[in-house]
Amino acid sequence: MPSSGRIHHRELARKVVPADVAAGLIAPGSTVGMSGFTGAGYPKEVPLALARRISEANAAGARFRINVWTGASTAPELDGALAAADGIELRLPYQSDPVSRQKINDGTMEYIDVHLSHVAQLVWEGFLGHLDVALVEVSGITEDGALIPSSSVGNNKTWIDQADAVILEVNSWQSADLDGMHDIYYGTALPPDRRPIPLVRPGDRIGERYLRCPPEKVVAVVETFAPDRNTGFAQPDQSSTRIAGHLIEFLEHEVARGRLPAGLLPLQSGVGNVANAVLAGLGESGFEGLTAYTEVIQDGMLGLLKSGTLTVASATAFSLGPDAVTEFNDSARDYRDRIVLRPQEISNHPELVRRLGVLAMNGAIEVDLYGNVNSTHLMGSRIQNGIGGSGDFARNAYISMFMTPSTAKDGAISSIVPMVSHVDHTEHDVNVIVTEQGLADLRGLAPRRRATLMIDNCAHPDYRPMLHDYVDRAQSGAYGRHTPHLLDEALSWHSRFVQTGSMRTER
Ligand code: COA
Repeated sequence: MPSSGRIHHRELARKVVPADVAAGLIAPGSTVGMSGFTGAGYPKEVPLALARRISEANAAGARFRINVWTGASTAPELDGALAAADGIELRLPYQSDPVSRQKINDGTMEYIDVHLSHVAQLVWEGFLGHLDVALVEVSGITEDGALIPSSSVGNNKTWIDQADAVILEVNSWQSADLDGMHDIYYGTALPPDRRPIPLVRPGDRIGERYLRCPPEKVVAVVETFAPDRNTGFAQPDQSSTRIAGHLIEFLEHEVARGRLPAGLLPLQSGVGNVANAVLAGLGESGFEGLTAYTEVIQDGMLGLLKSGTLTVASATAFSLGPDAVTEFNDSARDYRDRIVLRPQEISNHPELVRRLGVLAMNGAIEVDLYGNVNSTHLMGSRIQNGIGGSGDFARNAYISMFMTPSTAKDGAISSIVPMVSHVDHTEHDVNVIVTEQGLADLRGLAPRRRATLMIDNCAHPDYRPMLHDYVDRAQSGAYGRHTPHLLDEALSWHSRFVQTGSMRTER
């Protein structure tokens, strides 16, 4: 019988089983829609039990693999365990697990890197095929069978709606005070029946408090008490602090010029340490009355909410380091009026991002002279994580900003290159580039002017002569002089790194 006191629906309480029994309901070849978004709200017991079952089956000569759809990245208990068991045939969307990354780059796991706002729609369209099972973590079940979401919403509404069968993990580690923080919008439809989404401010609530799920669709309920597992954020290093400083100075400048209101516009902040450093920097700046319309609430954003610098934050998930998660769980009630967690097709909705005028700040792997951004691939072919929601925001933001240190691998790589080795965000979608060297505001600049600014403001001084030399020769020798390139050389920096371990020419 349920022991956590979180399951208040009689029929569902009778469906509680051990994790391995629930895992036994997932057949080889199934497509499973799992909850989870950047280490928050993912199922913690059933994927591990399933990974054990898959390992045993594969060791006995079977080929037991499943397709895994999620909200975004999850954690070692899900992605890591299933990938290590060779149990994933195909994975979508964003992921950042090292074992999965290895398998994807080995070519032994298929990976589809979809814009996060598109995933649900692709499933509703039927384009991705049939969804067999939804495996979703919730923080409780009400007397009438409604599901109280946990620390992420992601694609859970869609998984529950579209799957043949639902397995629930009820995690009593999640704060009971999450109840009331979610806003599940059920007004979406496919064209031609689509209607405007009635959200005009980041904190608006337009949907329902709980996830709907017919009890008869639930085939198993598993009780868990297990923490979300997120790695902590590093203390901002010198480079991140300088990037944050340039970016905040830029925002102050925009306010001084009357191009942004004093409380800015809703902020979107990407993943990682640099983004966290920017949020920390905003806390120390003089800004007040800020809002966020973003994908994840990470430590820095929680800090801004706590100090009152941020009045409200809309997201689809938390992405908190261990200390912040403990602090949040102890005081979730205090944040309930100021945090709204939504399905990811709403948190990342391009039309809302455009209409709200979101200020998008995302990380880049490399940027080229004209402002094209690669967020996903190392040396053109090795996936790092994925595009995640960066495209949802960057393409539609009021100001689209990308941040990266000017070099990687102890200076052997320049992050500012003649031509990016993979394009995620085109020059048409990118407004501002920031490195620790400085900031390039590319708005209103034709390509050749962009190139000069990128080199002088953003590139590392060691690489500036090489970049100037490239542009100078391209301008005199290229086939066209609008966006000059030397086709034989444009990607030579990357091939030099692959061959010699450095993009520098002296080696
Ligand atoms: N060429 C080759 N390798 C590079 C590189 C470059 N130009 N720049 C960085 N790297 C390497 C680093 O050396 C590091 O390698 P390591 O793991 O062996 O140490 C790795 O790439 C990651 O770099 P790091 O600087 O630690 O990245 P990060 O944690 O700051 O993340 C992104 C940067 C771009 C990978 C990350 O922001 C991301 O995944 N973005 C896409 C999704 C996104 O923006 N989501 C938010 C939307 S809401």
